[in-house]
Amino acid sequence: MTIGIIGSGAMGAGIAQVVAQAGHTVRLLDQHMGTLQKAVAGIQKSLDKLVEKGKLSAEAAAATAKLLHPTSDIHDFADCDLVIEAIVEDLAVKQQLFRELEMVVGPDCILASNTSSLSLASIAAACKRPERFVGIHFFNPAPVMQLVEVIPAVQTRAGLAEEVRDMVASWGKRPVLAKDTPGFIVNRVARPFYGEAIRLLEEGVADVATIDWALTELGGFRMGPFALMDFIGHDVNYRVTESVFTAFFFDPRFKPSFTQKRLFEAGYFGRKTGRGFYDYTEGAAMPEP
Ligand code: NAI
Repeated sequence: MTIGIIGSGAMGAGIAQVVAQAGHTVRLLDQHMGTLQKAVAGIQKSLDKLVEKGKLSAEAAAATAKLLHPTSDIHDFADCDLVIEAIVEDLAVKQQLFRELEMVVGPDCILASNTSSLSLASIAAACKRPERFVGIHFFNPAPVMQLVEVIPAVQTRAGLAEEVRDMVASWGKRPVLAKDTPGFIVNRVARPFYGEAIRLLEEGVADVATIDWALTELGGFRMGPFALMDFIGHDVNYRVTESVFTAFFFDPRFKPSFTQKRLFEAGYFGRKTGRGFYDYTEGAAMPEP
């Protein structure tokens, strides 16, 4: 199969690695050449690490790298059997992308979005053939996380979500079907998890490091809520919170916080910018609980 990935940021690069490792030809596109080059270098580094750890043979890593075809021209997607979009979480931008994409791909090409929170029905509504559109929602980092949510839109043809679920399973993932509701399964449960942690902070109940420590050491979570938000990125996470809140008709359970909004506005996106709830700049000391 030939699989196109649009957007080569955190998610697009990870998804490209997953499908290339599954043996598919990958066309990878980003509007920023620098991001595209960084993604290809990052995938190579990740494959090298797997070889170092003995999890992948050097031959398999070389074969995987050969399957990756970075491009800046959407016309190169003409031969794709499936295209997964992982661009900015913005409905209008995603709709525009699918309009352009449909002018390039064949009629049987499956179109998919990795959106975290947008309604798939609303993205599909921009397509000429919305029946071949589906949500494939990976988790970060895509090569590591097993779970993938597969979400049919109301327009999706009967049986396609199941076909896609089986395809994703063949890539070594554990896909589950979910309905097209805001945040699907995990992001819906995660909103109050983050929101309540921020409320604890705002009320002065405990500091960031203490809350994270309590939830990892005592609660059994792999990452605390603040470390996780910094990892995901406040640009992405804040937008998802806003979008889920709006989509649930402003249900206060999903209300965004000013604390996160200010981090977002300041460009303190977390690990990717060196600053979020924690300071990741060189020499900065991590606070103790
Ligand atoms: P990112 O900001 O790391 O990457 C997005 C990339 O898309 C950027 O490199 C940008 O240059 C590119 N881009 C934006 N508009 C474009 C366009 N019109 N054409 C081509 N390239 C374009 O974002 P990230 O984190 O990879 O998220 C991407 C999508 O995946 C979003 O919809 C997000 O909600 C979703 N997602 C994010 C997760 C996360 O933990 N970060 C987890 C699961 C889904």
